[in-house]
Amino acid sequence: MPELNVVILAAGKGTRMHSSLPKVLHTLAGKPLLGHVIDTASQMGEARLCIVYGHGGESVPLAFDSGDLSFFLQEPQLGTGHAVQIVSPHLNDKGSTLILYGDVPLIKPSTLKRMTETTDCLALLTVELENPRGYGRIVRDIQGKIERIVEEKDATEQEKSIKEVNTGIMLAPTARLKSWLKNLGNDNAQKEYYLTDIVQMAVSEGLPVKSVHPGAIWEVMGINDRMQLAEMERIFQKEQALELMRKGASLADPARIDIRGDLSVGRDVHVDVNCVFEGSVKIGDNVRIGPNCVLKDVEIEEGTEIAPFSHLEGAEIGRNCRIGPYARIRPGTRISDGAHVGNFVEIKNSSIGKNSKANHLSYVGDADVGRNVNIGAGTITCNYDGANKHKTVIEDEAFIGSDTQLIAPVTVGRGATIGAGSTITKDTPEGGLTLSRTRQVHIDYWKRPEKKG
Ligand code: UD1
Ligand code: CA
Repeated sequence: MPELNVVILAAGKGTRMHSSLPKVLHTLAGKPLLGHVIDTASQMGEARLCIVYGHGGESVPLAFDSGDLSFFLQEPQLGTGHAVQIVSPHLNDKGSTLILYGDVPLIKPSTLKRMTETTDCLALLTVELENPRGYGRIVRDIQGKIERIVEEKDATEQEKSIKEVNTGIMLAPTARLKSWLKNLGNDNAQKEYYLTDIVQMAVSEGLPVKSVHPGAIWEVMGINDRMQLAEMERIFQKEQALELMRKGASLADPARIDIRGDLSVGRDVHVDVNCVFEGSVKIGDNVRIGPNCVLKDVEIEEGTEIAPFSHLEGAEIGRNCRIGPYARIRPGTRISDGAHVGNFVEIKNSSIGKNSKANHLSYVGDADVGRNVNIGAGTITCNYDGANKHKTVIEDEAFIGSDTQLIAPVTVGRGATIGAGSTITKDTPEGGLTLSRTRQVHIDYWKRPEKKG
């Protein structure tokens, strides 16, 4: 059994969100608040992760892959001490227990590691705040040693003037924690079992109480309402933007990029304003992304340009391609090196061969397009017959005239030319010209109708 227990408190109500969704399931950068804390806790090495939930009921555990997580229901919620009491019997006596909060999403693993490196003490994560209102205050004796924590509602005016506050995050030796929890009472202003009362117990047993400070205040900021959520989103996005620039990407405006997942970039990548990256996105060297693009789960190889207003999802794009403006690339698409996909072109579940082009107003779905193919404006693969999807194959060097419908399943042979305006229902041979349209006629002495009376 691992010697570090991590307990994440997430049972609270989140009244101020005014939401039917439990607070910890609201998302920051596309991920539930609690998901951020779980992911951070998972970076603490081998540890047992215990989550206390309550408000929102089973929707909380159901939102996560419970693989390595243990969930404990706290009902009713009688305070932070009561929450930890519920998990207490399940904690491994050896080693320590780290307490985290499901609504404090941006705590950094490096800060927590500094806490877990302390030994033989109770470690509290504290910060000095200009405006400490609402927080528990850290009361120290004249030598500066921590004596206890007093909650705002129980504090005297003098105690309220203390600027050092309890962030709530702490690390305790597990066996001691268990014995302290048994002795908690609720004789206080809120009639709650305060976890913070363990500080006095540690002091009276002669166990040192140490304070650790986070690298930045935002690491310990909790979220109680949608204004704070939006504020934290901007803080997190700015941090991610700075990290990208450190890795060698240029951003037209670090305040106008949103990364909701994992974005990895090569060197000299340029991202223009208002781009959104979701899921897992990998971008190679010298890729340029124009303004207002949305990229989800895509991989783009070096030298490719994504022009403005393009939307790409579930696709792999090769080297030196040109995509957009206004392109829509849908899941299952692989675009090979040097291909061009232009404005108002939609491609779904298709492969596009090297140096092929579909530059204007087309739909290519369930198609296998070879190399050096030219798909004229307005070409549509009619892949759906109302019941099933069918495949279109366009072999190398084919030229599809504008406004062609390819009724799948159908194959256009290598090097074939399709005349503009054709409706292709049968496979076409290699080379030559195939067209299906009525011949043009001319009526010489045509008289237009005239208006009567
Ligand atoms: C607590 C601390 C306070 C600290 C503050 C930091 C106590 C008694 N006080 O304040 O010193 O400055 O956090 O934000 O610990 N929760 C449960 N079950 C409960 C009660 C709370 O899971 O029965 C969870 C909440 O979901 C939340 C966290 O614990 O994530 C903190 O609860 P909250 O009520 O926000 O904090 P306070 O008790 O006011
Ligand atoms: Ca409370």
